[in-house]
Amino acid sequence: MSSNNESIGKTLGVVVGLCLVCAIVVSFASVQLRPLQQANKIKDVQRNILTAAGFKDIENVEETFKANIESRVIDMKTGEFVDVDPLSFDFESTKYDAERSFALEKENDLAGIQRMTYNSPVYLVKGDGSDVSTVILPIQGYGLWGIMFGFLAMDEDGQTIKAIQFFKHKETAGLGGEIENPKWTATWEGKQLPIDIVKGTAGNNEHKIDGLSGATLTSNGVDNTIDFWTSEKGFGPFLAKVRKGALN
Ligand SMILES: Cc1cc2nc3c(=O)[nH]c(=O)nc-3n(C[C@H](O)[C@H](O)[C@H](O)COP(=O)(O)O)c2cc1C
Repeated sequence: MSSNNESIGKTLGVVVGLCLVCAIVVSFASVQLRPLQQANKIKDVQRNILTAAGFKDIENVEETFKANIESRVIDMKTGEFVDVDPLSFDFESTKYDAERSFALEKENDLAGIQRMTYNSPVYLVKGDGSDVSTVILPIQGYGLWGIMFGFLAMDEDGQTIKAIQFFKHKETAGLGGEIENPKWTATWEGKQLPIDIVKGTAGNNEHKIDGLSGATLTSNGVDNTIDFWTSEKGFGPFLAKVRKGALN
């Protein structure tokens, strides 16, 4: 014999009530945690910029960033600094904002990114005194499995690479994922633009980098990414100004 507590109406009532309570808890947590998530995202970007700038064992990311890095925004076409908040950029989503970005024609899209922004943040690293010693450029380009996001650190001469750091990608661990391997990224230090990633050994050639073995397709993606972002279509106009001493 079924009691009143086991009626369909009561069961449904409990299910709906429970769903409602869960939905309210999840929505509340999501709204409450959003500022914290945003702050963590910014901190993560800052940590990667500091790593590209050569900082190691960073204890307080925010303080170290504030003390050593100046974030600026440039007009990609002219290479001039513009008065835009660097924090308004999200590397993944801003390029889909129709007012702040444009579609790249296939023949102009060497990095395979489909769209790019009119402006871009750049990060100036202060050396001894207040002179800028390094400029860090955000880069992105298609590997084998998806877009690889990274930073390219250039010397104040606008010609010499100081570091490359990929912080987000979909390449296979142990193959294309080796773009993150410090042993490989260390080989970039001191190389000169333009860069060519070659199969086999690059030796001491200052324009060549060893390709990743078993990951030629990712290596080609990195090669195209660097070529694109250091060209006229990328940071070329800005780098031309850096070469003329615009930073100091
Ligand atoms: C499951 C799987 C994952 C792979 N992941 C990558 C990758 O992330 N990057 C890459 O360049 N090649 C990857 N490859 C290998 C490519 O298909 C290709 O063989 C390789 O890029 C050629 O490089 P190599 O000429 O240095 O051997 C993968 C292959 C398999 C089967």
